[in-house]
Amino acid sequence: MTTSTDRGMWGSRFAFVLAAAGSAVGLGNIWGFPTQVGRGGGAAFVIVYLFCIVMICAPILVAEIVLGRRSRQSPVGAFKFLSPGTRWWWVGAVGVVTSVGIVAFYSVIGGWTIAYVWFAASGALGGGGEAAGDFFTRFTANGWQNVLCTFIFLGMAAAANAGGVRAGIERVTTALMPALLALLVLLAVRSLTLPGAAEGLAYYMRPDFSQAFNMTIVGAALGQAFFSLSLGNGAMLTYGSYLRRSDGIGRSVLMVVALDTSIALLAGLIIFPAGFSIVGFDPASSGPGLIFAVLPQLFATLAGGTLFGGAFFILLVMAALTSAISLLEVPVAHVVDRWGWSRPKAVGLVAGSAFLLSIPCALGNGAVESLSNLAPAAWGGNFLGVVATICNNFSLPITGMLMCIFVGYVWRVDRAVEELLADNAWFPNPKLWGLLVRYVSPLAIASILLGSIMAVL
Ligand code: TRP
Repeated sequence: MTTSTDRGMWGSRFAFVLAAAGSAVGLGNIWGFPTQVGRGGGAAFVIVYLFCIVMICAPILVAEIVLGRRSRQSPVGAFKFLSPGTRWWWVGAVGVVTSVGIVAFYSVIGGWTIAYVWFAASGALGGGGEAAGDFFTRFTANGWQNVLCTFIFLGMAAAANAGGVRAGIERVTTALMPALLALLVLLAVRSLTLPGAAEGLAYYMRPDFSQAFNMTIVGAALGQAFFSLSLGNGAMLTYGSYLRRSDGIGRSVLMVVALDTSIALLAGLIIFPAGFSIVGFDPASSGPGLIFAVLPQLFATLAGGTLFGGAFFILLVMAALTSAISLLEVPVAHVVDRWGWSRPKAVGLVAGSAFLLSIPCALGNGAVESLSNLAPAAWGGNFLGVVATICNNFSLPITGMLMCIFVGYVWRVDRAVEELLADNAWFPNPKLWGLLVRYVSPLAIASILLGSIMAVL
């Protein structure tokens, strides 16, 4: 096992916030959130999502970071350290495997965004509208192009991860977040001033409550919340393990949750008004191509649209890369910590395995028929969708629930709170946090999981 100095440490608490925000903000916010809102029927999904973020996921984010900072280990080691001789380390192991699954499908979508940098900047997307949807369908049906783009995305993430924790992530994220926010605000303003925008806004903000109790949708909202905050697989736990004891957790968590949630909400504010200004737009049937069909149309309405389009997709690629780096970090840190491998060798093994799984994900969007129509829509439809549904809607919430039970009843809340408040750190309401972790989060997750399993069976 390596010592903590070999493992790396953040330069400061702010560096940790940047890395955690870099992990959280990614395709989940800009691609995943609007896609899920579209599938879930609009504003009702948004409300359930916000409930999951505040009541379930934010407390778990705190729990993960505390577990990591206390144990100074990646997930498997953390559970072995805090509860020796028990089987709790399995929770960490499931997180390690889940990370590989997420990297695999994430890299395919990352590959699409890389291709779209080129398409947008070269003007290949044309005027948007219905043609943009067809363009996306044709592109994703091209097998070798998709595998190649996936390979490029995963290779870039792996190379950055191999460069080490601090050098790889801090600098990119410092420049990325303000630029991304500024461009998103600008696009939202443009989108909201398009003809027909009001209809999209109503869809996005005026809930149809009959949908709020559809358990498939509630389950998807929970999965989306876990995915967006990078929770459940131990990514935040691992990042927490590089945190100094003197660096407080409360403020960092608030900043990460606020940033991640506002970027997701902004993405919706761009996609739906612009989407509804397209004739014959149907958010529910657009699926994973939603943003790729709507955004070109939006860029076409801007002076210098190819420039904005190119810049937007470059920023999206970068945001996706900082997330993919953190996804790789869980299995990589595991291999480095437990097997004593060098970082580059560990990255090679992890990225190689992820790439093997990403090939069927890349080919299941039209290129290979049997991979493209694999399962009912509730299970994700194609190979990529099935992997994503298993990882996001089931694996992450289950491990998240087990982490709550671990902190609440095995390691115990008083020890966690002691760690949270170490060095006179600021933390809003430790009592409330304890209640959420012991009762509210695990019970809510258990009932949502049960409900969504019954809904699909
Ligand atoms: N949160 C990232 C996004 O929204 C994806 C991600 C990074 C992730 N690390 C994770 C998801 C760990 C789940 C678990 O794009």
